Amino acid sequence: MDDIVEGSKLRAESKSEQERKVEPISKVGIVGGGQMGSGIAHVVALGGYDVAINDIAKERFDSALAAITKNMSRQVSSGKISEEDRDKALSRISFAETFQDFSDVDLVVEAATEDETVKRKIFVAVCPFLKPDAVLATNTSSISITRLAATTDRPERFIGMHFMNPVPVMELVEMIRGIATDDVTFTRAKDFVDTLHKTIAVSEDFPAFMVNRILLPMINEAVYTLYEGVGSVDAIDTAMRLGAHHPMGPLQLADFIGLDTCLSIMQVLYEGLADSKYRPCPLLVKYVEAGWLGRKTKRGFYDYRGESPMPTR
Ligand code: CAA
Repeated sequence: MDDIVEGSKLRAESKSEQERKVEPISKVGIVGGGQMGSGIAHVVALGGYDVAINDIAKERFDSALAAITKNMSRQVSSGKISEEDRDKALSRISFAETFQDFSDVDLVVEAATEDETVKRKIFVAVCPFLKPDAVLATNTSSISITRLAATTDRPERFIGMHFMNPVPVMELVEMIRGIATDDVTFTRAKDFVDTLHKTIAVSEDFPAFMVNRILLPMINEAVYTLYEGVGSVDAIDTAMRLGAHHPMGPLQLADFIGLDTCLSIMQVLYEGLADSKYRPCPLLVKYVEAGWLGRKTKRGFYDYRGESPMPTR
């Protein structure tokens, strides 16, 4: 990792970049209080930062805070954090009703829906309220950082910071520079992630980066395996859990990620790499069209409405 950082230092730095004073990050704004946004807020608040979460309605913030409280309490029960750590972290989290509440943040992490139009609208709306030196990061799991950066007033202070789900448990953060991301921004973002006790893997800016470039075609292949009748939902998941030692079967994991997100990532791979091997399985498309998006809608490859999840095929 250090080699990569050292290597990047060899790049010619502009005078203004060398002269820029690097303020440490102390307050973080998060856009989106869903599964990823609340998970990021959880680890950032435990890391000692003040966190303001923006979402379209106060109810969504309330649900995010309830999920964070529940997950931190799990960590208290298993001795990973103390009650005092939890209470202090929770007191650092606030609701940002509008982007005006981000005027004092040093870093914004966008964790909205995996939809380029939605993300672009957010960047256009948030930029006018940010301090000139604030870093803008996106948790996109697949979309071009360079293209998203180009919609902002700060492509050099824009970066990909891709957390994994569930954020409090997963150790990795993928970091992706856009073509314009400067070294100061990379170092600030890296130093920040280091304080969250996560391990960084640096990826070039290509569709779906590294984790999802590898993971999503596997999930899509599992859906093809189901579609072609090679195995049932239960057989496929059992095969990969016990035969490849994966903590979750690929269909169970797809439900966990969200089938809409899985489909979006496959579409980004298919269109971005123009290779038919990435075509989304028609059965995945059908589930998404049905609104069976996995755990969040209580139905996907499993039905979660009963006592225990039941395969839907
Ligand atoms: N917050 C805090 N703690 C949590 C948690 C959360 N949201 N979810 C689980 N945990 C903790 C549990 O409390 C438990 O802790 P202890 O061991 O201290 O008791 C531990 O994690 C294990 O949880 P469980 O016992 O409930 O269940 P499990 O053993 O089945 O593990 C899992 C759950 C960690 C999610 C595991 O199944 C797993 O690792 N699954 C794979 C997840 C994965 O692949 N994530 C990547 C998704 S891809 C992605 O994120 C990229 C993208 O862009 C799509």
